Amino acid sequence: MLTYNQDVGALLNARCANCHFEGGVAPFALETYEQVYNQRYAIRAAVINETMPPWQPADGCNTYEGDFSLSADQIASIVEWVDHDAPQGDPVDDVNASASALVTGGDGEEGMSRIDLSMQMPQGYEPQLFPDDYRCFLLDWPETELKYVTGFHAEPGNMQIVHHVIAFMISPEDAADYAALDAESSAPGYTCFGGPGGDPSSAVGWIGAWAPGDPGGNTPAGTGIPVAPGSKVALQVHYDSALYVEGMLDQTTVHFKIDDTVEKPAFVLPFTNYQWLSGSGMDIPAGEASVSHSYLFDPTPFLGMSLLSDGLIPSNTAFEIHSAGLHMHELGKEIKVEVHRANGDRACLLEIDDWDFNWQGGYSLENPEVFEPGDKLYIECEWDNSVSNQRVIDGEPQEPRDVHWGEGTSDEMCLAVIYITAH
Ligand code: HEC
Repeated sequence: MLTYNQDVGALLNARCANCHFEGGVAPFALETYEQVYNQRYAIRAAVINETMPPWQPADGCNTYEGDFSLSADQIASIVEWVDHDAPQGDPVDDVNASASALVTGGDGEEGMSRIDLSMQMPQGYEPQLFPDDYRCFLLDWPETELKYVTGFHAEPGNMQIVHHVIAFMISPEDAADYAALDAESSAPGYTCFGGPGGDPSSAVGWIGAWAPGDPGGNTPAGTGIPVAPGSKVALQVHYDSALYVEGMLDQTTVHFKIDDTVEKPAFVLPFTNYQWLSGSGMDIPAGEASVSHSYLFDPTPFLGMSLLSDGLIPSNTAFEIHSAGLHMHELGKEIKVEVHRANGDRACLLEIDDWDFNWQGGYSLENPEVFEPGDKLYIECEWDNSVSNQRVIDGEPQEPRDVHWGEGTSDEMCLAVIYITAH
């Protein structure tokens, strides 16, 4: 018979307690037998539904570094243990030393190998919008020569309210526009959602994202993102401000690993249909429970252009895709990005079949995909704009409205972000 002390405890400590600890962002701790026992039915439901742990990629699309999802055996064991009334088992000195056969996989999460630069928000910020506050803070990139970002980690100042952090790099050309945006509000930072705000056509690149439990990490070996002197870092912080208690402040820090040179400079390519950005390019009519838009495009003829990789990856050559992230807002249901080969084959890069706005990030492919000229990138998004899937404000579900592309919380996006190098 499976017990907490001999089997399940070590597994839950390894795979849940990194987020579910006292004072963490998760709603309760799962560090002791009593805490786990009290939540056993919720745990059973969450692992069966695969809502926890919050690993987003759908099965069967691709394989990723640091996969922390539970295997079918691990899920079955937790369920069996709960169904046998969750016994504690014989006492042991250290639950984690019980060398449970259940604790396999989910490794590879060692974090970043070195910290070269740390940047902190200049002052503490107190959430002002409830129950969610999306705020961008602008930090000056201090390096005076071209450098390469080769690792990223964010360290929330206040674990209880920081739900996610995304770092965007603002090019020197756009820095003044963003500084003006930042100066508009007397409180630190400015309101932003889905992106760093500012002119949507400006060249902003993702450099990293953090969500609870994420130890941070290096970029794929030999690769790094070039950052020019005079750039700014826009830090988007999502505050789960429903958990805010009077007087709470957050002052988040981001850490970078940086190198003077890398073998393969990387470019973070945002991929979408740019026609969707204008007017009614991406209609999501009010009341519709299933609306899809898709787009197929070969970026290779344009890659070297200044708005894209600026010569980093020459046009009309093959490139390598190392990681992928996807982005929609709150009406999103399913999203995927694929490579459609010239010969008709398809390679799935990333698919999320139960979209959750709160858990976005990039996923590194165990084996990079090579994209040849003539192949196409394919993105497909599906939304639910029915009455039952609307935002609830002050306890009131909102009326569905016609939705289009936009930066606002009630607008939508359909975007893939892929991390690429020359082949
Ligand atoms: C990466 C961080 C993280 C990990 C790992 C994690 N959780 Fe959670 N968990 C959360 C957060 C945050 C919430 C609050 C709801 C949300 O934001 O989705 C939550 C909510 C829950 C809930 C409440 C109901 C629900 O489904 O939302 C249960 C039960 C739960 N977690 C169980 C687990 C178990 C069991 C594991 C390990 C097998 C686990 N969690 C691993 C972060 C995590």
